[in-house]
Amino acid sequence: MKKLILLGTLLVSSALITISGQTFEELAPTPPMGWNSWNKFGCDVNEKLIMEIADAMVESGMQEAGYEYIVIDDCWQIDRDEKGNIVPDPERFPSGMKALADYIHSRGLKFGIYSCAGSMTCQQRPGSRGYQFQDALQYAEWNVDYLKYDWCLNEGQNAEAAYKTMSDALKACGRPIVFSICEWGSNEPWKWAKGIGHLWRTTADIQDCFDCVSNWGGIGVLQILDIQVGLEKYAGPGHWNDPDMLEVGNGGMTYSEYRAHFSLWCMLAAPLMAGNDLRNMDDETRHILTRKEVIKINQDTLGIQAFKYLALGDLEVWVKPLENGEAAFCFLNRGNQTADLDFDWHKFGIYHRSLKKSGFSLSREYRIIDLWEGKDLGTTSQNLVARIRPHDVLLIKCSNR
Ligand code: GLA
Repeated sequence: MKKLILLGTLLVSSALITISGQTFEELAPTPPMGWNSWNKFGCDVNEKLIMEIADAMVESGMQEAGYEYIVIDDCWQIDRDEKGNIVPDPERFPSGMKALADYIHSRGLKFGIYSCAGSMTCQQRPGSRGYQFQDALQYAEWNVDYLKYDWCLNEGQNAEAAYKTMSDALKACGRPIVFSICEWGSNEPWKWAKGIGHLWRTTADIQDCFDCVSNWGGIGVLQILDIQVGLEKYAGPGHWNDPDMLEVGNGGMTYSEYRAHFSLWCMLAAPLMAGNDLRNMDDETRHILTRKEVIKINQDTLGIQAFKYLALGDLEVWVKPLENGEAAFCFLNRGNQTADLDFDWHKFGIYHRSLKKSGFSLSREYRIIDLWEGKDLGTTSQNLVARIRPHDVLLIKCSNR
């Protein structure tokens, strides 16, 4: 009896180890960073575009800032052949996926692809239902590093079981592949997806607007933000809540709104998947997407997602504990009027388990650094006084320096 139990344990744990020796959990120790085609290009994807985006990722400073995955979303696939193998669109990807992966790897980047747990994708391309293991092997053969897996035409499947099947297929395919679960938060994936995937969408699709709801259910930055309250306890190294990809640079929001959007996603320890055309970014977009001091908040190795501490009318305060007992504070002005902030650090008395875990304590004095302006704003001995423009943030770090 003892022997049987031991054998069972060995089988289970070996399935969790990939060929490179990394465990599944170790594939995304900090939130994944990259680019995805959907928000800007929709179905209009082809290999030339993807190669140019990879070049731009390197040349624009995005790679240096930490972005590494280039993910092709829906519409790269067109059919299955007589053996059931998934077939890329030969007109749009004439060189094939392996050649594209090789090109992306030659630029020091990683390659991601998209499929769906249903029989068809959201754009009516072939999905992976019934082909999960075959597809995973195919991805490994193409040297894929990342899979985003959608939920359209799911035909009433149990979400946990459906995502676990693909997770098992990826774990068995012989290549480390980051698994991005995209079932829009419909089945509360934060309660079951740890160990199945590395990130899971928590909401409907993002729209390129700060405060809006579209007629088909897409939502803006503030609507997404509100859904994240309370989810912070489910995120951590290797398993992240995903409030959807970035819209920074796509033209629908002001500079302040994009800066707020990016700041909040960094605070939320969200995966940072740029969704704009990297080939022709203006300076403001590049500045937001590559601001290292802000990205550092997102990539902090404690991996603690910010919690909402306070809401005073349109002014909200979000707090993200960081390494070395430091913390980031994001003061968000949701409203249409300038907000006057006068924040008394010594009234900041909330007990929150993540603060205790990180060692942040206002019995010490911290320096306050404005992370966008790079300015020293004094210390926690004085009130923090600032004006915050409409739909903008003041993003600061309580620093030990
Ligand atoms: C769904 C997903 C989006 C995108 C599209 C592609 O709507 O939520 O992120 O992948 O499908 O069809």
